[in-house]
Amino acid sequence: MTRRKLLIGNWKMFKTATEARAFAAGLNTESGAKQAAASVDLAVCPPFTAISALADALPEYVKVGAQNVYFEEQGAFTGEISAAMLADNGVTFAIVGHSERRTLFGETDEAVGKKAVVAVKHGLTPVICVGENLAERDANQTAEVVARQTRAAIAGLSSEQVAASVVAYEPVWAIGSGRTPEPEDAEAVIDGIRKVISEEKGSAAAKSVRILYGGSVKPENIAAFGAQPNIDGALVGGASLEASSFARMATALSGGN
Ligand code: 13P
Repeated sequence: MTRRKLLIGNWKMFKTATEARAFAAGLNTESGAKQAAASVDLAVCPPFTAISALADALPEYVKVGAQNVYFEEQGAFTGEISAAMLADNGVTFAIVGHSERRTLFGETDEAVGKKAVVAVKHGLTPVICVGENLAERDANQTAEVVARQTRAAIAGLSSEQVAASVVAYEPVWAIGSGRTPEPEDAEAVIDGIRKVISEEKGSAAAKSVRILYGGSVKPENIAAFGAQPNIDGALVGGASLEASSFARMATALSGGN
């Protein structure tokens, strides 16, 4: 079973709609990104306010994702955005359970599972984020933490839905820090995530689900992560903000340079 490589940019709280259009214009001039898209799926997750502009302005080989989605269908939930609203704006991926959502906004394992369910229901591919913090890593709890997070996130999905989903392993200590695990260490954790998925949803789901690495990925190190057998690409913050850097990562992930 071959899994297509996937590069997703997570812009976090950066870029206005105007700045997002400028990124798209820049990407249109990067021939490397278009070539890479023959073998690598590409997506960018801007803030909600830039989704519509980006969906219109990006070349068709780059998809638009959301950084979050609320688990209710609609209602009196001031400030929240539903899966139907995202789908209607051209969104195809939805990040759920990013560590910043978990730590800064109190998102629980249970909420992440509900968000994955509502995303799938509306045709969005959930990008389920898991990862240990530094204290958990130092206490040798990495495997246990990511297993717990993974189980909760996929609990409400069928085997087929998990097979079509994306998981991103993002060690919290590697996010925005310039520090990364060795690619072999990330590979070992991701292999463990695949085993958990196999136990919960069967081996077909575990073989099909794409699992990304995230945390201080940049053009210079992405190929080393992508070369690991169980790592299917990357979820990238800071280095995805410039079109040229995004294009270089796409090229490197596709095996070019
Ligand atoms: P950085 O690539 O900036 O470390 O961010 C990683 C991340 O959190 C992507 O979701």
